[in-house]
Amino acid sequence: MPYNTIIEPFRIHTVQAIDLPDLEVRQAALRRAGNNLFGLHADEVIIDLLTDSGTGAMSSEQWAGMMRGDETYAGSRSFFRFEKTVRAITGFDHVIPTHQGRAAEKILFSVAVDEGDVVPNNTHFDTTRANVEYRGAEARDIVIPGGTDPATILPFKGNMDIDQLRSALEDAGARVPLVMITVTNNSGGGQPVSMANLRAAREVCDEFEVPLFLDACRFAENAWFIKIREDGYADKTPREIAAEMFSYADGATMSAKKDGLGNIGGFLALNDSDWAQTARNLLILTEGFPTYGGLAGYDLEAVAVGLNEVLDENYLRYRIRSTEYLAETVLAGGMPIVQPPGGHAVYLDAAALLPHIAPHQYPAQSLAIELYRAGGVRGVEIGTVMFGKRDPDGGPDVPAAMELVRLAIPRRTYTQSHIDYVAEVVIDVADRAKDLGGYRITEQAEWLRHFTARLEPL
Ligand code: F0G
Repeated sequence: MPYNTIIEPFRIHTVQAIDLPDLEVRQAALRRAGNNLFGLHADEVIIDLLTDSGTGAMSSEQWAGMMRGDETYAGSRSFFRFEKTVRAITGFDHVIPTHQGRAAEKILFSVAVDEGDVVPNNTHFDTTRANVEYRGAEARDIVIPGGTDPATILPFKGNMDIDQLRSALEDAGARVPLVMITVTNNSGGGQPVSMANLRAAREVCDEFEVPLFLDACRFAENAWFIKIREDGYADKTPREIAAEMFSYADGATMSAKKDGLGNIGGFLALNDSDWAQTARNLLILTEGFPTYGGLAGYDLEAVAVGLNEVLDENYLRYRIRSTEYLAETVLAGGMPIVQPPGGHAVYLDAAALLPHIAPHQYPAQSLAIELYRAGGVRGVEIGTVMFGKRDPDGGPDVPAAMELVRLAIPRRTYTQSHIDYVAEVVIDVADRAKDLGGYRITEQAEWLRHFTARLEPL
């Protein structure tokens, strides 16, 4: 193409109206929700960047696939199309559908993980961590040095620290039932993992005879980063790169709500026949028969089509570039962010923007609230409200490692003018940073308090 503008590689076929609640409505909504953005209703939000999970737009081919959905309880045609697609992309023998990613995690860890075990991962996503801990095991994050520092710029900041992997296997040996690598590394800023790192992890796992699994939610975005950043991959297709990524693993858990381009769905795929058999038996207990796993036949069809569409080069070029575009624009406008931008989200660095708000007064929550109050943009706090620890004696919380606001971008949903609007709101709030104040929590649950806590301004 002789022109430089990277366009959305789709045209709009069905539209959904966005409400434009005014400032008064937004302030009333914040009061009702106790300044917790999880308490907002969809019609109170203008641009919703809470998550990229299940919030994308499906294509006309996916909707056409849904019309083909076969709702046969056992042995549905839709299942076999789904299985064939997952096998073709991943190469794994056994494909077990689940209603979303965490169900695949729950089943995998029920099969493989026991009390006292250690599961190393570059960084566990919070449901993955919770499912490991639920088994009484330790979820150990071993991302490379720099992987948790917002300012460090590295091409593959999601890489696993191979030396730490080796020492975990030397020390915990028999207590490590499997190693996981999350692609891309969501909790570390949506950062990719290189092919060289996957290969190195595989070699260490082979040495200790431990299986390697991928948390593959954003495998296609990771493949694109490998294509554009790693030597030797520029001429390979995303499908070829994904195939090589999966070839180093013994299995994968997947939330099809991300790179499956579905609104719901997931799977566990693996090579070990004994584990697969036990997993299918557990699936029947909690999800459903192995040929639907908690999904309708039409959901299996939508994901089967989505898994192929997500590997399209035009889509991935646009996807990664549009995230980078938002990051570059807000950074140039004075908003500090996690560098370099990840695949699915831009992470605003509230600790750098708001040094006058102490961590136990929730700077990232304050920033997230102001983005919503000022412009109706909903992101999510990933800071001390989400990951801080309560002091049992009522003192200040133990702060989280970082104070971030994640702006996650739903797939194929917002246009460039929506993103320009978001950037304008973010830059306006950055300009007024010194006027923002802290918050205190007035009500909180014992676990996962960020979903339901109520806060008030100090
Ligand atoms: N693993 C990763 C890396 C994830 O990002 C998620 C979900 C899951 C597993 C669980 O999948 O939601 O289908 O059960 N992440 C969403 C998010 C919720 O907003 O980042 P699920």
